[in-house]
Amino acid sequence: MTRNQNYERNWSVYYKKTYNRPPRLTAKFALKCFNTEYCKKNNTKRFFVIDLGCGGGRDAFEFLKNGWKVLAIDSEIEAIKFLQNREDRPPEADLTFQIAKFKEVDWQECDLVNSSFALPLMPQNDFCGVWQNIKKNLKTGGRISCQLFGYKDEWSGRPGMTFHDRASIFFLLKGFQIEMFLEEEIDSETVLGKRKFWHLFHLVARKMY
Ligand SMILES: C[S@@+](CC[C@H](N)C(=O)[O-])C[C@H]1O[C@@H](n2cnc3c(N)ncnc32)[C@H](O)[C@@H]1O
Repeated sequence: MTRNQNYERNWSVYYKKTYNRPPRLTAKFALKCFNTEYCKKNNTKRFFVIDLGCGGGRDAFEFLKNGWKVLAIDSEIEAIKFLQNREDRPPEADLTFQIAKFKEVDWQECDLVNSSFALPLMPQNDFCGVWQNIKKNLKTGGRISCQLFGYKDEWSGRPGMTFHDRASIFFLLKGFQIEMFLEEEIDSETVLGKRKFWHLFHLVARKMY
């Protein structure tokens, strides 16, 4: 058993409980930003999102419903299956998958990298390389929407995870216009029903150059 497996990550139950929940606020906000731009320009562009750590697909599904091309990536085959097997998927959905760890992703240039509650679940050493790849593969004008965890989070210090403070997040977002920066500290439950203190950064940012 690896260290991470000690931390009861029961993804199977997680996916069953979340796959048909509404999209995360960051995903919804990013979608709105693109829609606003799209309406202004009045063109027929089809946007492309990479959903890193798609889980049961609550965000990916929203992008599909909005006519986006989606590449859903997760290291768990079960996550991908949830999305594949949804019967209410739009018939014309442009959806591809990768079963991969974030550090092993076969990257493509995209308009949006969406990663809800997933990027902190990898070690700091991997995080730096993955973040570089996100920046590199986002088009100018493209966006990142994600959650990062702060140091006050109850899980802070767990091996195999990455935590940030405000300053390090501003550093990560150099060259980006920050459109959402919400810091949240809240005592609530995990999806699996455990009490937990969360320290979250909800982020949406647009790549300027
Ligand atoms: C907490 S879930 C979030 C799922 C979904 N984005 C959501 O908001 O409901 C995190 C997901 O990221 C995936 N994941 C975690 N670490 C990963 C890694 N290093 N590489 C690929 N996927 C990873 C997990 O398998 C899981 O499906």
